[in-house]
Amino acid sequence: MDYNSDIDMDLENRMVTTSSLPEDEGDNPLRPRTLSEYIGQTKVKENLSVFINAAKLRREPLDHVLLYGPPGLGKTTLSAIIANEMGVNFRVTSGPAIERPGDLAAMLTNLEEGDVLFIDEIHRMPRIVEEILYPAMEDFAIDIMNGKGQGATSIHLPLPKFTLIGATTRAGQISAPLRDRFGVVLRLELYSPEELSLIVSRSARILGIPCDPDGAYEIAARSRGTPRIANRLLKRVRDFAQVMSEGKITLDVARKALEKLEIDELGLDNIDRRMLTAIINHYGGGPVGLDTVAALVGEESVTIEDVYEPYLMQIGFLGRTPKGRIVLPNAYQHLGIEYNGQLML
Ligand code: ADE
Repeated sequence: MDYNSDIDMDLENRMVTTSSLPEDEGDNPLRPRTLSEYIGQTKVKENLSVFINAAKLRREPLDHVLLYGPPGLGKTTLSAIIANEMGVNFRVTSGPAIERPGDLAAMLTNLEEGDVLFIDEIHRMPRIVEEILYPAMEDFAIDIMNGKGQGATSIHLPLPKFTLIGATTRAGQISAPLRDRFGVVLRLELYSPEELSLIVSRSARILGIPCDPDGAYEIAARSRGTPRIANRLLKRVRDFAQVMSEGKITLDVARKALEKLEIDELGLDNIDRRMLTAIINHYGGGPVGLDTVAALVGEESVTIEDVYEPYLMQIGFLGRTPKGRIVLPNAYQHLGIEYNGQLML
């Protein structure tokens, strides 16, 4: 089942979707081009900067990098920055797009020395393709079989030395042999409201939108720790600002706009609230299994895990226990529901 297209379909109309929309892609002027322009992810940036500088000093390609974390945090952006900082080409593909070993072989043989090959959603790469990747990553060579059965011959093809950057929302689904071949494994974290506020102000400047710091912070605080959401909300709030206050985003305009968009002070939308309320009303706040949660709101389990849960867990609204999901006291308070249950852990 192609779950991501389901996510895209389900979330098409969701203001706080973390799926990338056409407006997020391509030559997006909001995307930072260098590590120094990239806001947040301080630890990741510091480490990457050392690895990049050391590789440049040795005149070698950077070691293979695995980036993981929830969607919308800038895995593709960061990978493009790595290629830019290394001064090499950035080639992009995705796990589900590489259907046959030949597809990957064609990409690999077209690389130039030092290039970055970015494979998004690498956990969705077919197993037979993955097996070609092992010798490619380790020995910079692939063996291509010609024909079948007794008459089969194999051609050994050396490849240029390249850097593979794999991105995934689900590190747990990467096979051990693949994971072990990445020299650098980095986890991206949700952004703080302060970091997102800097991102919103930077984006507003680039887009020529007048935006008060208070207005930027209000948008940031409701963006679920995710730059992709922050930039999308900025554009929608701008629409309200144009009608309400001659285009200037103030705290008041931001609040009113976000209220109209039905995104509350913490960034929760109707689906989040429906999910939490349903667990409380039908299951006494949990614990309840992931599949049941998914059925309650009519979403795929993977969507719940990748898209909804990371932020709800970060703000202490939802817990994962061995017995299932539980709604935590903070969420009751936020939803205005009395909490009188024992927390069953
Ligand atoms: N736009 C999206 N993500 C960003 C980041 N981390 N820093 C700066 N601008 C961004």
